[in-house]
Amino acid sequence: MKMDKYRFDGIFTDGREIYTTNLTPGKNVYGENLVKIENVEYRAWNPKRSKLGAMLLKGSSYFPFTQTSKVLYLGAASGTTSSHISDICIEGILYCIEFSPRSFRDLISVCEFRKNMLPILADASKPDEYSAIVGCVDVVYMDIAQREQSSIFIKNMKKYCKSGGLGIMAIKARSIDVSEKPENIFSKVKKELSGEFEVLELINLEPFEKDHASIVVRHP
Ligand SMILES: C[S@@+](CC[C@H](N)C(=O)[O-])C[C@H]1O[C@@H](n2cnc3c(N)ncnc32)[C@H](O)[C@@H]1O
Repeated sequence: MKMDKYRFDGIFTDGREIYTTNLTPGKNVYGENLVKIENVEYRAWNPKRSKLGAMLLKGSSYFPFTQTSKVLYLGAASGTTSSHISDICIEGILYCIEFSPRSFRDLISVCEFRKNMLPILADASKPDEYSAIVGCVDVVYMDIAQREQSSIFIKNMKKYCKSGGLGIMAIKARSIDVSEKPENIFSKVKKELSGEFEVLELINLEPFEKDHASIVVRHP
């Protein structure tokens, strides 16, 4: 088996799947395959379990995570996607916000072995709650599946994202309005965000995630 570089630094491919290098060799996070080649261990990144993985495989032109990135991650759940970002931002930091105590317990066990991940039990709709811990970041990533997701994303971007920094939001159409066509909801979200930021990309995440899209914006 041979591993090649993917389209962005920190991501690899064997021609079928994408991978990150495992920051915690021997340990997986969500049952993903571990593959060792020439003394480097890679973790398969499952696009059906991670909207960021799906966005990459759907051909996104944006992947703002680098070795030194500071990232605010809203809706970290039990750490599936954030662990892959943690594999990449090895000299950076990920502030992982999650408000469900149950998911937070699982998140803590992932963060215990990943020193660049800081778990924070807080409500993303109240960004002032974590201002004592979180500073200015390079990237805001949000995946919270809530009705008010656009306004929550805007508040966090304005408070924490650096000028010129990127924000990525996973949009779950059915959380916003079950009766409206997903494409109409995606357009509505795009319009809301374009009033505040430069919208760079909107991608439908099917077939990996039904009725979901990802949107990438730049803070002025
Ligand atoms: C779809 S899951 C996230 C999956 C995760 N991003 C991943 O790919 O590994 C959504 C998560 O957002 C959390 N969430 C929803 N609303 C939130 C809020 N206002 N503040 C913090 N977390 C929230 C939920 O508890 C849930 O764990």
